[in-house]
Amino acid sequence: MTSTPIVSALRELADKEKQSLHMPGHKQGLTPGLLSGWLGNTLLYDQTEVGILDSLHAPDGPIRQSEQLVATLYGTKATYFTTNGSSAGLIASLLAATDTGATVIVPRNVHKAVLAGIILADLWPYFVEPVYQDGYELGITPASLQAALTAHPEAQAVLLLHPTYEGVACDLEQLVGIARAANCRVVIDEAHGAHFPFHPSLPTSAVRAPADWVVQSAHKTLPALTGAAWVHRLNDNFTDDYFRSRLNLVQSTSPSWLLLGSLDLAQQELRMHGRSWLDQAITKANELATAIEQNSPLVRWQPPTAGGYQQDPLKINLLTAASGQSGYAVARYLEEQGYYVEMAKSHAVLFMLTMADAAMPIDPLVKCLARLPRATGNPIGLPPAPPLPQLYLRPRQAYLAKTCTVARAKALGRIAARPVYAYPPGVPLVYPGEILDQEILAYVDELVAKGGHLTGLQQGAWVVVVEHKE
Ligand SMILES: Cc1ncc(COP(=O)(O)O)c(C=O)c1O
Repeated sequence: MTSTPIVSALRELADKEKQSLHMPGHKQGLTPGLLSGWLGNTLLYDQTEVGILDSLHAPDGPIRQSEQLVATLYGTKATYFTTNGSSAGLIASLLAATDTGATVIVPRNVHKAVLAGIILADLWPYFVEPVYQDGYELGITPASLQAALTAHPEAQAVLLLHPTYEGVACDLEQLVGIARAANCRVVIDEAHGAHFPFHPSLPTSAVRAPADWVVQSAHKTLPALTGAAWVHRLNDNFTDDYFRSRLNLVQSTSPSWLLLGSLDLAQQELRMHGRSWLDQAITKANELATAIEQNSPLVRWQPPTAGGYQQDPLKINLLTAASGQSGYAVARYLEEQGYYVEMAKSHAVLFMLTMADAAMPIDPLVKCLARLPRATGNPIGLPPAPPLPQLYLRPRQAYLAKTCTVARAKALGRIAARPVYAYPPGVPLVYPGEILDQEILAYVDELVAKGGHLTGLQQGAWVVVVEHKE
């Protein structure tokens, strides 16, 4: 087996093939056209399952070999590729971890892909509130998870988030231990942590925890194409068919070979350069954060060490209050200068580096931030998070119910049929099935008034349940 079975097979096919008598319609870009003008030779590798290539739905060739290489690299029982991001991996993991109608314990700050899994598996979610500090989520505590499991002894699965979007990793070992003691299956959303095992300064990887499935967006933190992700199985209790049959429900039968090839190369890049590139990138990130603090009013935020929290050093969280500007305004200023941040929120911006930033030039960005205009107005404060609304229907019942839209003034007391969230980070503020109470409506009003852009509202109106089925 070669060290990059997918890319080797694609190269071999490109060398051998005289004429394509099959899909895709661009025919490897051999006829001049707009697409080939744009992507050129890349199209040679945008293939379909012919000859020596493989099927993502039942792999037994180069895809399987590459998945096995990743499993060996991460030390897992098995690894499954997806070209639909961690979103597909999370949906499949929830379908694998639960029976229809089961209770699942979920931190409130999970990504909306978890909601998709809850809807498709028709689950009752029981939400656990994360702890917040300075407007940042730290994660759920062992005590709150224990309380949730005591209140819901029927829970079949626990989903954990590790790390948060902003790179805060929690004490997974304790949380997984508590879930295991309650006989729950454990799924870990480690979308932002595929790089963790490859450097000692990074948080401990979820693949070291005794969980069942760990989902990682290779594309987020490794050199892989957008949408390319994988799911690790960490135990022997479930067969490959058990998991893959669920994953296949949310994967196209025409997966992108470019994405698959990028997963194949990412694992090889990790083997060849993971440690050294991460070393350089972490040094670079620390230099950048220090220089920004010395030359601009932005202040780096880090989680407290008490409580077992660890910060991914490649995620630089910068508080903007001392500039008198909101995070949104700082992000706009940076965009005008050609710098695009990973995320802005009312009081902060997030810069994200990866192992591909080992040689990133930092001076121009630091100089640009040194010129950041200061404002004299009051910086935007965050409204305190409201209490959790009551979940009246299962999210699936509400999502697939007969709905109507109601103006804000008429929304009080109605049942939400759609999630409402800001993207990024894609964490729902309101779940389908929840009753729109005064506190949540006022919170959403305030976020909108402060310039937050929310998805799920229809020009300010709420989509609510009119009639639902049992
Ligand atoms: C915490 C978290 N989980 C899951 C996802 C979904 O990942 P993907 O974009 O790979 O589908 C995201 C995306 O932003 C995320 O932030």
